Amino acid sequence: MSAPLLITFDSVWKSYGEGEACVHAIAGVDLAIRRSEFVAIMGPSGSGKSTAMNIIGCLDTPTAGTYRFMGVDAGRLDRNRRALLRNLYVGFVFQGYNLLPRTTAAENVELPLIYRGVPARERRELAMQTLAQVGLVGREHHTPAELSGGQQQRVAIARAIVTKPTLLVADEPTGNLDTARTHEVMELLTRLNAELGLTIVMVTHEADVAAYAGRTVRFLDGHVASDTVKAEAA
Ligand SMILES: Nc1ncnc2c1ncn2[C@@H]1O[C@H](COP(=O)(O)OP(=O)(O)O)[C@@H](O)[C@H]1O
Ligand SMILES: [Mg+2]
Repeated sequence: MSAPLLITFDSVWKSYGEGEACVHAIAGVDLAIRRSEFVAIMGPSGSGKSTAMNIIGCLDTPTAGTYRFMGVDAGRLDRNRRALLRNLYVGFVFQGYNLLPRTTAAENVELPLIYRGVPARERRELAMQTLAQVGLVGREHHTPAELSGGQQQRVAIARAIVTKPTLLVADEPTGNLDTARTHEVMELLTRLNAELGLTIVMVTHEADVAAYAGRTVRFLDGHVASDTVKAEAA
């Protein structure tokens, strides 16, 4: 019944510096995430959340231990192969929306398709469909400055999913939003998880944001301190 594993950490360490100055950002983490899970990552500042997210998104590799993504030992891939894996299967959303200014919502969403060589007409069609999916019909030709923070984050989410990734990595996606906008964005992520089976791994500091996820993993000093599945999702 269980979906296949998408992400596995097997005794993963990530260390920076040497000797006295050595910091273990991740210290022997075991973690498994299945396809279509929605996981919140919590924990105090400096506990290793971003380091773990960089490994999960195939941006970085462990110092020791094994990180597998879709069954592939991503830590052993060279930079180019890791980039390929990332471009094919991972979408990223950040706290700052990282949209191009003076560029319309549709053009921003088309960007990852330009890099993939998708023809202009098909690109525009996919961008328009994806903007509709995130509830931005009528806003396609607005620039970021003409959109609210919540709308900008929805454009960023559309840009992240227009390539139909298997995994969405979100580092504090609601960090810059007020309560109402936060809940709008979380409802959108919940819907994408449910409707598309999109696997989501999201860092948040807020318990009411984490409550949207089916599972919460807490980091502390580079370890997993707790890993809780929501009762109704279990
Ligand atoms: N590039 C780096 N060089 C040196 N130390 C780092 C680097 N990245 C992270 N660290 C250290 O690793 C620990 C975990 O950092 P991080 O993963 O960013 O934590 P979090 O995202 O939970 O705040 C911290 O002590 C941080 O200072
Ligand atoms: Mg961080």
